[in-house]
Amino acid sequence: MDPAGYPAPNKGCLAPGKCHSGVEPIRAHDSEMARQIYDMGAKQGDPNGCVVCHGGNPKEEKEAKIAHTGAPGGSLLSEFVVHAGSVWVNEKTCGQCHREWTYAQFRSIMQTEAGKIQGALWGWGPASTGYAKKYGNYDVDDPDSTVPVFGTSIYKDYTQALMKQFPDNFPSSLVQVPATNLDNLKENPWEAIYTHVRTNSQRRHMGVKGREKRGDYRGMGCAVCHIPFNNAGLYEGGDPSVKRDEAGHAMVHSIQSSRKAKIVVNDTVYSGIPHETCVSCHNRGKRIGVSFQGLMEFPYGSPFDAKGGKQPKLHTKFYQFIQDDVHHRLKSREGNPEGGLLCQDCHTTTSMHGNGNITGTLLANVEIECSDFHGTAAYYPWELPLGWGDEFGQQVDMSNARGVAQEPLSTHKQFSTSYEAKDGYLLTARGNPFNNVVREGDKVLVHSDSGLDFEVPALKSLALTRNWKNPARAISAKIQASKHVETLECYGCHSAWAPQ
Ligand code: HEC
Ligand code: HEC
Ligand code: HEC
Ligand code: HEC
Ligand code: HEC
Ligand code: HEC
Repeated sequence: MDPAGYPAPNKGCLAPGKCHSGVEPIRAHDSEMARQIYDMGAKQGDPNGCVVCHGGNPKEEKEAKIAHTGAPGGSLLSEFVVHAGSVWVNEKTCGQCHREWTYAQFRSIMQTEAGKIQGALWGWGPASTGYAKKYGNYDVDDPDSTVPVFGTSIYKDYTQALMKQFPDNFPSSLVQVPATNLDNLKENPWEAIYTHVRTNSQRRHMGVKGREKRGDYRGMGCAVCHIPFNNAGLYEGGDPSVKRDEAGHAMVHSIQSSRKAKIVVNDTVYSGIPHETCVSCHNRGKRIGVSFQGLMEFPYGSPFDAKGGKQPKLHTKFYQFIQDDVHHRLKSREGNPEGGLLCQDCHTTTSMHGNGNITGTLLANVEIECSDFHGTAAYYPWELPLGWGDEFGQQVDMSNARGVAQEPLSTHKQFSTSYEAKDGYLLTARGNPFNNVVREGDKVLVHSDSGLDFEVPALKSLALTRNWKNPARAISAKIQASKHVETLECYGCHSAWAPQ
């Protein structure tokens, strides 16, 4: 993106020489976000808007030390910050315009890791909290009520009913994991788990930079997902002040998000949040990210490179490629493009940012099911009732079709890329519209934030037209119409392998 398009090129932070004259704009100059930032910056003496997120002294054009001090009048910040998206400052930076997102993120499980902590303590005698989620990485409460900050009224009611049914998984507050009391360690050896949790286990949350090894470089807070980092953590943009050979920097100074937020790095243009961003954390625990990519941990360095050397470690480990998830590189259906889905093409804003409530287990905030996209052999997705497949033991009324929505979420419409509704936006199992999955006649279309568009095989259409991929085997038809589909998770059969 063009560094020359700033409102005041070569002024303030962009003064030539050792300052930031070549820095990429955080969003394209002609975006509404950039316009609002430049307006806000101008009121604080910096038409380029850097102070809106970083604070500092925009009058100083020579000494970095002086320029990087304090914050101008009108700023919510009291001092200069480098990590502008960090949870520790983002209410005063991004939160000026995205209040719900910063509120939700601080309470989301990707910040608290409440589920991991409860799981880690489970086997440690008196340290176990049983099914209750009591601890988080930090003390946190939820003063704004139990109503989610995002979503339709149907989703909000659904969520609140779930919260009543499973109070252990929706705590109203968490306290920080206690420290091991070394004085009594002989009597209470189980307290050692607290040290493990505090020093080793809990490095995969939004409040810290993480391990900073190959493949694990990432930002903090909003920058975790919205600022791109490459495997090596090296800067590839045009700001002369950022050292290009020092690991730990963003790849470029730009926000990645939906299709309309384009990232330009060297000569490559892309959109969407690459899997690698998510996998910088989702490579341990259930290893869901590396499994999606088809990578299994492996103690050896083979296959060797062209010179006979070992592969470089990724996430501190060696990997063997086995088989990736079918959605990672779709090439199955005629008419569909070569390429795959991004994590965000299926997952929704409530699970990326949290919904403003505190949750204690992974599925507490995952509102999607495979059947929301594929339906079943007997039902199109819009013919299924809400709640179908959501694993909470509830009885659903099969005659109560969920239908489709005519509008995406208002928060989405206001801030992100929306696609043509065609015959309506499909709904998640908990009643929020997807912004990117629409119905066209009996077809289901997915618009990937990467820029690709796919048709989803709707099982009912395949059953009606007998258009199965392997018609000779006709096995799909038998299975999809069987009791299995009601009683097993789809991935009970469709996961090719999983690490144990
Ligand atoms: C919308 C908020 C926002 C605005 C406006 C903004 N930045 Fe940033 N900036 C960020 C975020 C977020 C990061 C990533 C920090 C991290 O690595 O965690 C960042 C990182 C940087 C870095 C890299 C720091 C490093 O050592 O890796 C520099 C340099 C920088 N910004 C300069 C600027 C300049 C100059 C301007 C004005 C032209 C500006 N920023 C405007 C949000 C912003
Ligand atoms: C001065 C107000 C303002 C500030 C500060 C601000 N934003 Fe935005 N942001 C907007 C507006 C307006 C939009 C929607 C229009 C657009 O995309 O340009 C937006 C859109 C976005 C989007 C969605 C883009 C897409 O197409 O999906 C993301 C992600 C985002 N902002 C993240 C951030 C982050 C992270 C920060 C802090 C580092 C931040 N914003 C700071 C005003 C702001
Ligand atoms: C900073 C590390 C980190 C990054 C990066 C990250 N996650 Fe997570 N994520 C976590 C942790 C930690 C948990 C769960 C913790 C627990 O079980 O207590 C989690 C949970 C989840 C969940 C289930 C819980 C929920 O509330 O939705 C989903 C879905 C998810 N992540 C998807 C993603 C996607 C998609 C991306 C990339 C766009 C991503 N994550 C990036 C750390 C991260
Ligand atoms: C775990 C990854 C992750 C983190 C952390 C994250 N976001 Fe997002 N964000 C996403 C994804 C994925 C989208 C979806 C983009 C799309 O397809 O529209 C998104 C979309 C958005 C949007 C567009 C509206 C919407 O809700 O879809 C805004 C605004 C936004 N993010 C702001 C923020 C802010 C502010 C923060 C920090 C408080 C933040 N995000 C942190 C992953 C993340
Ligand atoms: C094709 C759609 C799709 C894609 C792409 C996708 N997911 Fe999911 N994911 C789902 C569905 C559906 C569920 C819920 C399964 C359920 O309810 O049993 C889920 C659940 C999860 C969970 C919770 C798992 C648990 O054990 O409770 C995490 C974490 C997660 N996804 C992370 C990711 C990450 C990270 C990526 C990208 C590397 C990703 N997902 C890509 C559809 C998808
Ligand atoms: C009991 C195991 C099982 C369950 C449960 C199951 N499937 Fe299948 N599915 C199969 C088998 C076996 C095939 C056929 C593979 C072949 O013919 O190559 C198949 C085929 C498919 C196909 C490809 C159809 C084609 O011909 O193109 C899709 C899509 C699909 N299943 C989706 C789902 C969804 C969505 C669910 C959950 C609602 C589900 N499956 C549940 C075993 C299962």
